[in-house]
Amino acid sequence: MPVVIVVGVQWGDEGKGKIVDYLTEPANLVVRFQGGNNAGHTVIVEGQKTALKLIPSGILRPTARCLLAAGVVLDPHALLEEMKSLEDIDIKVTPERFGIAGEVTLILPYHKAIDGERENLRAGGRIGTTRKGIGPAYEDSVSRDAIRMADLFDEKHLRVLVERNVAKKNKYLKSVLECDVQFSPDEIFDELLEVAKTFKPYVTNVSSEVDKAIKADEFVVFEGAQGALLDISHGTYPFVTSSNTVAAYACVSGGFGPKAVDRVLGICKAYSTRVGSGPFPTEDTGADGDTLRDVGKEFGTVTGRPRRCGWFDVKAVQRAVRLNGIDSLIITKLDVLTGFSKLKLGTSYVLDGKKIEDLPVSHLDIERVEAQYEEIDGWQEDITAVRTLEELPSAARAFLDRVSEVVGCEIGGFSVGPDREQTILLDAGLRSYAALK
Ligand code: GDP
Ligand code: IMO
Ligand code: MG
Repeated sequence: MPVVIVVGVQWGDEGKGKIVDYLTEPANLVVRFQGGNNAGHTVIVEGQKTALKLIPSGILRPTARCLLAAGVVLDPHALLEEMKSLEDIDIKVTPERFGIAGEVTLILPYHKAIDGERENLRAGGRIGTTRKGIGPAYEDSVSRDAIRMADLFDEKHLRVLVERNVAKKNKYLKSVLECDVQFSPDEIFDELLEVAKTFKPYVTNVSSEVDKAIKADEFVVFEGAQGALLDISHGTYPFVTSSNTVAAYACVSGGFGPKAVDRVLGICKAYSTRVGSGPFPTEDTGADGDTLRDVGKEFGTVTGRPRRCGWFDVKAVQRAVRLNGIDSLIITKLDVLTGFSKLKLGTSYVLDGKKIEDLPVSHLDIERVEAQYEEIDGWQEDITAVRTLEELPSAARAFLDRVSEVVGCEIGGFSVGPDREQTILLDAGLRSYAALK
């Protein structure tokens, strides 16, 4: 049984949640390995829509155990809200079903205030963060100031950490950000004592659980958030998130070695979207972009912002395939392309009149890159009821074949609608591991 890592290969919102839910049927463990509640993973099962932010998308299946690994940043209030909303639909998030690594960094109210204030101050140069405190929390982790889940269980130690952090953040908010918001160490300490009580039964050794599952030959799925082009090291910096989103980080965060990984699946929309600012070479700001947004319902799960839309970017996906070591790509939202007479594939980039092979490093250069397109025939047939490759119209099959050829990666499946049933898995490797439909 395999260790499979599921990652986004574009700018997030590729449909990772839906595919993780699909793969979870035979899974024993589903482990979220980075990001926080900046993510929004929508899963639709028999018409019922659930938006997950922190809790792995595996929670919607009755058996898999779901874990948050060390590299996640966790807002306790957001997690409680999410647990309650799952309980409203009769999914009990018990300590048997859900565990949290003691190493996770907590997102506290001052992180959110700093994130928001910095965005306000950036004015014209905003990153367009989700304002959930993600960046400031990861900063504390790297500077070794973080309050982590495991710190909550020694009151004396916690008090010292809270006093130190609140004093530092209040000073920063006042003197550097020139903002009036100030936090009370007493309030934050009291809140954290409540958090400690609530979450103590959930705290677990994720690395050890993953190790045991691997040794017992169980099926372990690692769920990524965001996408390769939002990766802090390899994305379109500084218009990125604050964590490594690529597959290798599943090992770092999950506390296991890279040799245990069997398969890396790249989730990829049949076109491109981006939320927030930053370069986007195949963006279409005209009528086609509007059609993609309307038909694809491209509005953010977390912030409700309209997503910027554009055509499939072969070079960007090729980069993501390389960064992640993708074995196969699952092409989602193929149904959204129905109705276009011609489809565009951005196949190469030109910068200063010269063809370039990869995105440049500087975002200033990426902004100047011109995408070159190839046009292929579209299809008009409704494909939402398609359940096999053979049932696809020939033009839709030709689209998948061409994507595979130009990107240089196997197509491991595709999806034709948001529901669990509308996923068609082709990846023979994965199908052989487990009783996947
Ligand atoms: P994630 O963050 O990668 O999990 O993706 P999101 O959930 O943020 O965004 C993907 C959106 O597309 C969600 O609203 C899904 O319900 C929807 N979706 C996923 N796959 C398909 C598909 O094949 N067709 C259509 N029409 N919608 C899809
Ligand atoms: P999922 O997991 C799309 C974007 C934000 C912003 C940048 C930095 O649903 O695919 P942050 O709050 O992380 O500091 O914001 O990253 N962003 C996402 N875009 N999908 C996501 O997650 C995202 N998470 C963050 O819009 O541009
Ligand atoms: Mg999303």
